[in-house]
Amino acid sequence: MEVKRRSARVVTFGCQMNERDSETIMGILSSLGFEESPSVDDADIIIFVTCCVRENAENRAFGNLGETKRLKERNPHLVVGMCGCMAQRSDLREKVQARMPWVDLVFGTHNIHRLPELLQRVFSGERVIEVWDEPCEVVEGLPAMRAYSHKAFVNITYGCDNFCTYCIVPYVRGRERSRTMEDVVAEVGNLAKSGCVEVTLLGQNVNSYGRGLPPRPSGVSPDFADLLYEVNSVEGIERIRFTTSHPRDFTDKMVVAAGSCDKVCEHFHLPLQSGSDRVLDMMHRGYTAEKYLGLVHRIRDVIPGASITTDIMVGFPGETEADFQATMDMVRQARFDAAFTFIYSPRPGTVAAEMPNQVKDDVKHDRIYRLIDLVNSTAGEVNDELRGAIREVMVEGPSERDTSVLSGRTRTNKMVHWTASKEHKPGDLVRVRILEPRTWTLYGEEVMSGGELDV
Ligand code: SAH
Ligand code: SF4
Ligand code: F3S
Repeated sequence: MEVKRRSARVVTFGCQMNERDSETIMGILSSLGFEESPSVDDADIIIFVTCCVRENAENRAFGNLGETKRLKERNPHLVVGMCGCMAQRSDLREKVQARMPWVDLVFGTHNIHRLPELLQRVFSGERVIEVWDEPCEVVEGLPAMRAYSHKAFVNITYGCDNFCTYCIVPYVRGRERSRTMEDVVAEVGNLAKSGCVEVTLLGQNVNSYGRGLPPRPSGVSPDFADLLYEVNSVEGIERIRFTTSHPRDFTDKMVVAAGSCDKVCEHFHLPLQSGSDRVLDMMHRGYTAEKYLGLVHRIRDVIPGASITTDIMVGFPGETEADFQATMDMVRQARFDAAFTFIYSPRPGTVAAEMPNQVKDDVKHDRIYRLIDLVNSTAGEVNDELRGAIREVMVEGPSERDTSVLSGRTRTNKMVHWTASKEHKPGDLVRVRILEPRTWTLYGEEVMSGGELDV
């Protein structure tokens, strides 16, 4: 008897690269005739797009994979797949292979385009595990089911060559490859034609975009600044964002480009990791605290009102209290608008995991609490300066907690909530006066006419 498999659910962990990959996976599944299922419970196929940047990300994915055993008992025709960064790690892959016999399909970050063929084999009864250690050429033209119509992620580079000593990403995402400017601009153009107004350019290190691309008539390969000017000229796009920047590779030409392109938003996510030069050196980050702060000041000089957010890690091997205090000092000096804070998690196979002097858990916890307190109080102070200001906000939709409240983001990427006085659709640009700034969110009222925009 032929079994009808009709609906699919893609469950995503990890960063924006995975979110974008999930759109491709759902796009492929849709081209094979599957509809998107609202939950895993009713799906005929579930694919987990996994992350292994920290141990807790792995644990969450394993927990979710474990729960599908119960679903499979209820529906033996259910197909369970796992892909993404965890699949690239042979130890984790083997764990799934050996301990989770109900998982039918494992594929990696480099062979997503092979999904139709892999699924065919699964449907004919085979358990399929296919992961490529190395990527092939950049594959263009794959279908995508986009999560939103007003905003979109656009890959500009894949992989990473930096090998920061704590990080697993270069091992699971392979060497850095840039898409051509023509391909990126064509994708942004098509998105604009279909109503998209905001694009976020994605790469592990967007500032190294273009390395290895064929030279232009000028004799040099294009760089990230060149790309910004090109994307800025695409009609219909209102806002351009990008993530992630690497402070070492953020050239002055790029700061100037970001400042001169009217659509490039005044927000820079600049991962600091640590404020101690000794730790930064052990991490192989390639900059000092002073150089980092110089970049922050330069951005704020060229682009007044720019917001700067960051990633900070505590408990890197050998980090002393003095190193940690240097990080705290940087938070005070850089006055970040927001920061993601992480406890260092040893990743098997990385250089740092083998370093002596791993920091004890209780010390790591003590440091992260102190760091979070400081980050919150600085972010609160920075946001407080916005009281009374009017900002351009892009509507995202009704707030999750209260549907009479709309939420959206400023160009500086701050979340704003305001009571809807008029109907708006996602992607609309409105003016909001900030009445009540809090640490993570700004509360305001819509300004119908007049009112000077400060940024
Ligand atoms: N390519 C980006 C981000 C990569 S991962 C960059 O270079 O910044 C996102 C963040 O996770 C990193 O900025 C870092 O702060 C954190 N991270 C990476 N590896 C980690 C690890 N082993 N333990 C804890 N945090 C980690
Ligand atoms: Fe990891 Fe460093 Fe590459 Fe970012 S730049 S993905 S932290 S190796
Ligand atoms: Fe995680 Fe892979 Fe992104 S390890 S952070 S999903 S590139």
